[in-house]
Amino acid sequence: MKTFVVGISGVTNGGKTTLAKNLQKHLPSCSVISQDDFFKPESEIETDTNGFLQYDVLEALNMEKMMSTISCWMESPRCSLVSTDSGSAEDIPILIIEGFLLFNYKPLDTLWNRSYFLTIPYEECKRRRSTRVYEPPDTPGYFDGHVWPMYLRHRQEVEKSSWEIVYLDGTKSEEDLFKEVYEDLMQELAKQKCLHMTT
Ligand SMILES: Nc1ncnc2c1ncn2[C@@H]1O[C@H](COP(=O)(O)OP(=O)(O)OP(=O)(O)O)[C@@H](O)[C@H]1O
Ligand SMILES: [Mg+2]
Repeated sequence: MKTFVVGISGVTNGGKTTLAKNLQKHLPSCSVISQDDFFKPESEIETDTNGFLQYDVLEALNMEKMMSTISCWMESPRCSLVSTDSGSAEDIPILIIEGFLLFNYKPLDTLWNRSYFLTIPYEECKRRRSTRVYEPPDTPGYFDGHVWPMYLRHRQEVEKSSWEIVYLDGTKSEEDLFKEVYEDLMQELAKQKCLHMTT
């Protein structure tokens, strides 16, 4: 079955989950898989020499479990439990995968039909992060000592990707971001449908 897989990645607190949820409300046959749901338990997270828990790295995630959730969806997208709207038979089932480390994970590289990457400046990121409650809580210096340097490293890797990634300004309003991505997706889906009809 034809499917359409969207990746929404980017900086912590860039608005990935918010954007994915807003899109899901307006797209037919749309499921969302969140990478946030695949963190390993704290007991399995490494600590660096400064005592910072190494959460912002691929090793902190159970990527095998995430891949098997994606494979389940691929096998039966219309019956998937993560979809909130069954849509109609003509709709191409859409899967949005959202998370901070998607385009750095090679096994996913061939999956994307459209890739987005949300960015926000350092100050705004630090501000948004300070308003959130994390479990375990961020320790003093954690943002500057672990979170932001890891983001910069990952972003450098993403910029070397061999496929097109659409960068989004995460300081725009939720509504503007939704509109921008929704319109772009409508165009991409229309291209996909044309392609589908001619093959
Ligand atoms: N466009 C926006 N403008 C201002 N604030 C926003 C916007 N989108 C999301 N936020 C706020 O920023 C915070 C993070 O949003 P969200 O959880 O969607 O980000 P995220 O990228 O999924 O973060 P995480 O990396 O923790 O998964 C929340 O407090 C949310 O309300
Ligand atoms: Mg999130």
